[in-house]
Amino acid sequence: MARVVVATAYGGPEVLHLIDVDPGPPGPGQVLLEVRAAGVNPADWKRYSGAWGTDPAKLPMRLGFEASGVVRAVGPGVADVSVGDEVIAYPVDGAYAEQVLVPATSLVPKPPLLSWEKAAGLLLAGATAAHALKATAVGAGDTVLVHGASGGVGAMAVRLAHLKGARVIGTASPANHEYVLDLGATPIAYGPGLERRVREAAPAGVHAVVDTAGTDEALETSIAVVSDLRRVATLAGFARGTQLGIQVLGGVTAKEIAIRAQARHRLVELAAAGRLDVRIAAKYHLSDAAKAHRLGMGGRTPGKIILVPDSVAARGHEHGSAGKAVAADSEPKTDGRGRPGRRRRITRH
Ligand SMILES: NC(=O)c1ccc[n+]([C@@H]2O[C@H](COP(=O)([O-])OP(=O)(O)OC[C@H]3O[C@@H](n4cnc5c(N)ncnc54)[C@H](OP(=O)(O)O)[C@@H]3O)[C@@H](O)[C@H]2O)c1
Repeated sequence: MARVVVATAYGGPEVLHLIDVDPGPPGPGQVLLEVRAAGVNPADWKRYSGAWGTDPAKLPMRLGFEASGVVRAVGPGVADVSVGDEVIAYPVDGAYAEQVLVPATSLVPKPPLLSWEKAAGLLLAGATAAHALKATAVGAGDTVLVHGASGGVGAMAVRLAHLKGARVIGTASPANHEYVLDLGATPIAYGPGLERRVREAAPAGVHAVVDTAGTDEALETSIAVVSDLRRVATLAGFARGTQLGIQVLGGVTAKEIAIRAQARHRLVELAAAGRLDVRIAAKYHLSDAAKAHRLGMGGRTPGKIILVPDSVAARGHEHGSAGKAVAADSEPKTDGRGRPGRRRRITRH
């Protein structure tokens, strides 16, 4: 049996409970993953909040779209994955678990020097950011505005745009400006006067926008400062974004899913080489998933929130302590020059 987190009703984090589930053997094309860490994303609480519908048939609802872990069993027809492989899994349906069945196509080898926690928080935000930068054709010499630059997706968008040779302006709360600066962007505050601050920070103009905030302020500022609306993309302001004629990236069409899947290998390579960091804001045991969600829903916590199965913590596989914010530098460092994590080698357990 495996302990898994489920939402037993629609509502707030109080509906989250740990239950025991028999994951069963992997079916064709699947593997059984022993989860070492799972990434927390806003979509996790939006799913059971009722904002996306309240279909009772979806309850109890498994949660979590990304994880890192060790392959414990392999189903029929899986050729390139073996028991004992250390992997990153995205997308996953139900990553908040001690064990979960995952399509083999969702797996990417985990570089040995990338911690379980950073690996678990890398791919959803990273692939979303890569997709947004591709959709807005960001390249060297561009000036890019990222709304929500201190968030999981925004931070990835800043780093990836910076690595492409773009200049980045990132909005965040003043308390997070130093973090945004460290990521490689010029930080500015969101709130009244945003358009003026953007123009002051980019007197020669803004070529493209990646919006993770979805507010009217972010969207209206974006269309005011960019002349080509095809180069403005929102990941959060769907209704208003559609009205304004900008790109709305839901990540649900086959094309979008393929773009994100393709982005995973490059993201892992960059992380292994120490060129793309995943800042861990806080880490909680699976049994404290509700606390983790309350922290995430409150915002203002730069970096990723990570869940670690209680059983993993008990066996001493985790780094740092769960249940509280952990400093990013308590994580083991990758080799900044990419050795040996640059090799796409699989470590066996
Ligand atoms: N469409 C997709 O495929 C897709 C995929 C992934 C995520 N998303 C969505 O993208 C959004 C961001 O996700 P995330 O994981 O990056 O969340 P997150 O880590 O919680 O980050 C939220 C960010 O929003 C900023 N923010 C908060 N209030 C703001 C405001 N009024 N104006 C401007 N910025 C504000 C925060 O800045 P401070 O903390 O500095 O205040 C922070 O940078 C969520 O709505 C999520 O559901 C969509």
